[in-house]
Amino acid sequence: MSKKKIIIAIDGFSSTGKSTVAKELAKYLGYIYVDTGAMYRAVTLYALQHQIAKDQKVNSKELKEQLGQVHIQFRYNNSLGYSEVYLNGSMVEHKIRGMEVSSYVSKVAAISEVRKKMVALQQNMGKEKGVVMDGRDIGTVVFPEAELKLFMTASAETRAKRRYDEMLAKGVTDLTYQEVYDNVVQRDEIDTQRKDSPLVKASDAIEIDNSQMSREEQFEYILSLVQKKI
Ligand code: DC
Repeated sequence: MSKKKIIIAIDGFSSTGKSTVAKELAKYLGYIYVDTGAMYRAVTLYALQHQIAKDQKVNSKELKEQLGQVHIQFRYNNSLGYSEVYLNGSMVEHKIRGMEVSSYVSKVAAISEVRKKMVALQQNMGKEKGVVMDGRDIGTVVFPEAELKLFMTASAETRAKRRYDEMLAKGVTDLTYQEVYDNVVQRDEIDTQRKDSPLVKASDAIEIDNSQMSREEQFEYILSLVQKKI
């Protein structure tokens, strides 16, 4: 008997390992993985490239006017086993992960018109189900009817340490732990306080604090939740 295809919504704070577990799940289940943070990051990169974002400010009026020229796509990379994000035809997966984009992205993601455009794209990508989507508002706004909703948390210190180690592993050395920590705290603040679709746990989401969990433990636990739904 073929299994039922569902939507798995994974929301939570930055650097809680949402994308790691989402990718693993998608691979295991043969589902599509959608990293919605990458979409907001790609819009931010566009804003930086066009001087719409500079001096720690984002010109929201200008960005709204140019939104029609911002085309975001995912293309599957066979050798990686997941999709990479493209901005106006260029693969930007690496460029969007740096500190510059990170320091502006919450401001860009707080703009309603940007959210409206991204949410419509995300709903379209999930319309056939069989999708694992991670972000901040997936279980609350994008797919309130998702069959499984997870809400991931971990202490700010744990998250900053993970992101810092990730950066070091990538060879980024011009960054201190304190800078990474400050960015994590600043983004938590903006993401939870913004007016449009703030980061909040959906009432029917299962909260997972993974500060003390290994990657394998977390995967097994989440898989057991999925098995109950399919
Ligand atoms: O998951 P991430 O750190 O790559 O996300 C980058 C930013 O995008 C984050 O600060 C909040 C925003 N975001 C959002 O507002 N809604 C989403 N669905 C995903 C990300």
